[in-house]
Amino acid sequence: MTQYSKRMVIVHWLTLVLLVAAWFLGESVHDLRKAEGATLAGYIAHALVGGAVLLLTVMRLLFRSKDGVPAPVGNTPMDKVAKGIHHLMYLVLFLLPVSGMMQVLTSDVSRALLAGDASLLPQKFTGVAAHEVHEVLVTVLIVLVGLHILGALKHQFITKDGLMERMMLRRK
Ligand code: HEM
Ligand code: HEM
Repeated sequence: MTQYSKRMVIVHWLTLVLLVAAWFLGESVHDLRKAEGATLAGYIAHALVGGAVLLLTVMRLLFRSKDGVPAPVGNTPMDKVAKGIHHLMYLVLFLLPVSGMMQVLTSDVSRALLAGDASLLPQKFTGVAAHEVHEVLVTVLIVLVGLHILGALKHQFITKDGLMERMMLRRK
């Protein structure tokens, strides 16, 4: 195999789109809460998009074990770092939505959602460990994705080894 399977490619790019949406919705909900204008709909939309990322990640790992992956492009220390970053991204793609769910379950957000009453939404997440974890994991993911994109750019414009084609739908 020289390219990722079609379904792996679709899930890879769909995850990117959903992550951008989840990040945007998370930041909006956060800012609205600070301005005391948060709505239940905002939390629900963020949780649904974030939950979809978790679902896609689980499906992706199943597809990966069934379809396999192309052989590594090389065996240099940089290739090993890239592989390590892939594995860390999978870990964060799993832990980030789980920490979001824990945040809802261990704070007044769940009380507000169950009562259908936005006035019960918390003004602060004091003592909610999952809130801190969620914030830290967002930053970790941004750093990992940043490094991953830099790596992809290096392959595309410096090494020029056609690595991007492995993650494209067009078959060679
Ligand atoms: C990969 C998926 C996810 C991403 C990228 C993401 C991203 C974010 C971001 C950027 C914030 C704002 C952080 C801040 O500056 O305080 C946030 C907050 C939050 N997220 Fe997520 N999130 C994800 C999944 C989830 C899920 C699945 C849930 C719940 C089921 C969730 C629940 C929350 C809650 C309750 C907040 C707090 C908002 C506030 O400050 O009032 N997140 N998320
Ligand atoms: C503009 C953004 C992106 C570009 C250009 C890009 C490009 C690529 C390319 C070319 C590969 C194949 C690498 C190889 O064959 O060794 C790849 C793999 C991968 N990408 Fe991305 N990617 C992007 C965004 C993302 C995002 C947002 C995530 C998730 C957070 C992600 C997670 C992964 C993972 C986990 C793999 C490894 C797949 C596996 O072996 O199972 N990528 N990416």
